[in-house]
Amino acid sequence: MRLDRLITAAGGMSRSQAGKAIRAGRVTVNGSAALRPEQKVEENLDLVELDGRPLEYRSRRYYLLDKPLGVITAARDPKQPTVLDLFPPEIRRQGIEPVGRLDKDTSGLLLLTNDGDFAHRVISPKSGVWKVYEAVVDGILTAEDVRLFAEGLRLGDGTLCLPAGLRILTPERGLVTVREGKYHQVRRMLAAVGKPVLELRRLSVGGLSLPPDSEPGTWRELDETEAQLVCASCSNPPLWQE
Ligand code: URA
Repeated sequence: MRLDRLITAAGGMSRSQAGKAIRAGRVTVNGSAALRPEQKVEENLDLVELDGRPLEYRSRRYYLLDKPLGVITAARDPKQPTVLDLFPPEIRRQGIEPVGRLDKDTSGLLLLTNDGDFAHRVISPKSGVWKVYEAVVDGILTAEDVRLFAEGLRLGDGTLCLPAGLRILTPERGLVTVREGKYHQVRRMLAAVGKPVLELRRLSVGGLSLPPDSEPGTWRELDETEAQLVCASCSNPPLWQE
């Protein structure tokens, strides 16, 4: 890849700042001064140093965001705040995108990455990654609702859902576990049993969960091992499901 691109992707500098740093002689490649931003470097082989310090460059990046209410799940939007606006410019420049989507009025765990294969694997219905949501409903959740969820619900428009979990926490609050990502799925499932959703928050995606004291709007970077936890439990639903 181009040297200036690698410096930008490592975070901290825009492309033009990286170009200036290179032309100012602040960057070396394998110990020799680099003079051209377009110089090609091999990301996992060449040692690139800025002001004498090795650049920590990871091409694949993964972030876990506790999405707050009121922001949309998109990379960019001319009118509304997006989840990307919650990250500083040096991270946005890594080319990260949301993995799947949460509604504007849903909060909770959202992954962002620039690893397209990973995103595809998490979203693909074939992977069957379990997602757990906490829902507050207008109505009283019943054992019959639990049975209908477990059987595979038919939504208002006739769409058939895969078997899903419903665990009643209080009469108006429940944990819903699904392994699909149909449009507004959880809201439509609860509406189909006559319990419109008042509040919705995603707690887990596969083997990754928000800590109980997580604050909406906060995020952290995941390393590759943590990110792979998402798919670790693809075929095993959370225990309470059974
Ligand atoms: N299901 C919904 O209805 N909304 C979401 O944001 C996520 C799942």
